[in-house]
Amino acid sequence: PSYNYSDCDFEVIGHRGYSDVYPENTLLSIEEAFKRGVKYCEIDINITSDDVYVLYHDQPTMYRASSGQGYVVSSTYAELLELDFGRWKGSQFTNTKIATLEEALILAEKYDAYLYLDTKKTDHELMCRVLQNSKVDPKRMLPAVASIDEAKKFKAYCPNSSFIYFGGLPENINDNNWYKEMVDLGCVIFETYYTFALDETNEDFKTFLSKVHENNAKVWVFTSNNIEEIKKLKNAGVDGVESDIATSALKSICEGID
Ligand code: G3P
Repeated sequence: PSYNYSDCDFEVIGHRGYSDVYPENTLLSIEEAFKRGVKYCEIDINITSDDVYVLYHDQPTMYRASSGQGYVVSSTYAELLELDFGRWKGSQFTNTKIATLEEALILAEKYDAYLYLDTKKTDHELMCRVLQNSKVDPKRMLPAVASIDEAKKFKAYCPNSSFIYFGGLPENINDNNWYKEMVDLGCVIFETYYTFALDETNEDFKTFLSKVHENNAKVWVFTSNNIEEIKKLKNAGVDGVESDIATSALKSICEGID
């Protein structure tokens, strides 16, 4: 396989990296996705008690995907460095450390790739300071943004970055001004639930799709881990799908290799 999908008209976004095989939201998981031609990885970020943006999904506790029991937000970065974020997925991943947003951005730049940030705790000022410190191209970082108000707040700190709308279908689905304003502020992708796209009777989704396309942006949906379903989503007109199996989905869809 070429692992070069730049000519493919469809994107499969690595959900928490290549999380089907590697421990989610770690540098290992992200790098293994990028190495196999994935251009976008979705990652979950949260803030430690001493203001370090780190990668971790669950907010209740760290029990599921680390050797810790506590909470990201009440731990210092130094405390998290003592924990193991790989062993839960398999003994071969023992001693995998927590990743910071800054490290992940530097990795994205190395592979000419992008990170979609699912922000479990939002601090635009801190996020944009991390971006600046990382010295990478500001376009590497694409945070999820839920509204025009939030987009304006983000752009105040990160004027040269783009972002992704993330949420349900907008209230005024026909109002072109909403899409236009989002795009003018830097929205390049609009992401919503994959079930909307699979439902052929969902006229609102069809309107959403055509409005986004009229405004020269893309529609992504989350999250499917079934290749046949991902093909159906492509046929429904979406431009990208988040998946734990992004690497095999890209191979199947873009190269025809199953
Ligand atoms: O941002 C929503 C989508 O990226 C998937 O989120 O919480 O399953 O990692 P999650």
